[in-house]
Amino acid sequence: MSAPDYDPKQVSLLDAAQLTAARDAGLAAFSAATSLDLLALARTAHLGGSAHVALANREIGVLPPAAKGDAGKRVNEVRKALDLAFEERKAVLEGERDARVLVEERVDVSLVPGAVLQGARHPLTTIQERIADVFVAMGWEVAEGPEVEHEWFNFDALNMPADHPAREMQDTLWLAPEGSQVVLRTQTSPVQIRSLLARGLPCYVVAPGRVFRNDALDATHSPVFGQVEGLCVDEGITMAHLRGTLEAYAAAMFGTHLASRLRPSYFPFTEPSAELDITCFACLGVGECRVCSSEGWIEVGGCGMVNPAVLVACGVDPERYSGFAFGMGLDRTLMFRHGITDIRDLYEGDQRFTRAFGTEA
Ligand code: DAH
Repeated sequence: MSAPDYDPKQVSLLDAAQLTAARDAGLAAFSAATSLDLLALARTAHLGGSAHVALANREIGVLPPAAKGDAGKRVNEVRKALDLAFEERKAVLEGERDARVLVEERVDVSLVPGAVLQGARHPLTTIQERIADVFVAMGWEVAEGPEVEHEWFNFDALNMPADHPAREMQDTLWLAPEGSQVVLRTQTSPVQIRSLLARGLPCYVVAPGRVFRNDALDATHSPVFGQVEGLCVDEGITMAHLRGTLEAYAAAMFGTHLASRLRPSYFPFTEPSAELDITCFACLGVGECRVCSSEGWIEVGGCGMVNPAVLVACGVDPERYSGFAFGMGLDRTLMFRHGITDIRDLYEGDQRFTRAFGTEA
């Protein structure tokens, strides 16, 4: 056999033993690759442009024609074996990756989201609006006044001068410093004064709001509670107007099946004065009842004909004008209307309580 006419060093790449070694190295590297990244690196090393098979393949061209067939076959077989091993390993690693991703990126769609509680309007708010609606329907206006009030509005102008014994009827919360003459209003009645001064005549206003007294919190008392004040001053107003108005109010709020009555009473800002009573909703006036202490009636507020002294304090001529006023407890009204027995429920902010009223518009 004649001596080969090509570079024996180069062609050693095509040597069967070397090709087998290159193949085995590749197969080992592929099966040792534990991730797709490592497998990609192994592929570059054993099937890439400068891998043994690629370099050997390039050498085929320089072989004598007789040797090309065999060498080509050998290189091809190695490449095929490597390709196959690579694809198989890739499939295995991809399968493992997919299985891992399915576990790691699992979204538990069965998870119950945290409950978002729906809020509800407070029943004291809705009852104020309901009461105001009754009077607005009769043509009255809704008025407001400050909760921090000067004693002149809260007491003096309401015919309760500093030495008036009626001031003792209310445990007043005075604001510091001593002698400030400023109080947390003890009643909504100062809105009567502000309305007469600001709105002029005739005056038909209803004023719901918060009032404050130096009372301890228990089942029937709260240092903060709600009142609704009413005032009508016009020419020719008589007690019959007061009676008719409050009767219409009681029917709208509590239903026509409950009777109402006026009982003589005393307030410095009204003369004559009365309490408005409604038939007890629990015993319907029969008595033998814990709700009304067997009285058959429940007191819902005070009222009377506006004392001329109040009109004078507001610059209104009592010879020409007369009027009536009333003040009712919002909490009492709400408790009466819904059978609530503990006033604290209205102020503790427990949603389980307010939510029961949540559907009320
Ligand atoms: N302001 C009174 C109170 O807090 C309630 C009241 C009684 C208001 C009679 C009035 C009224 O307008 O005429 O006890």
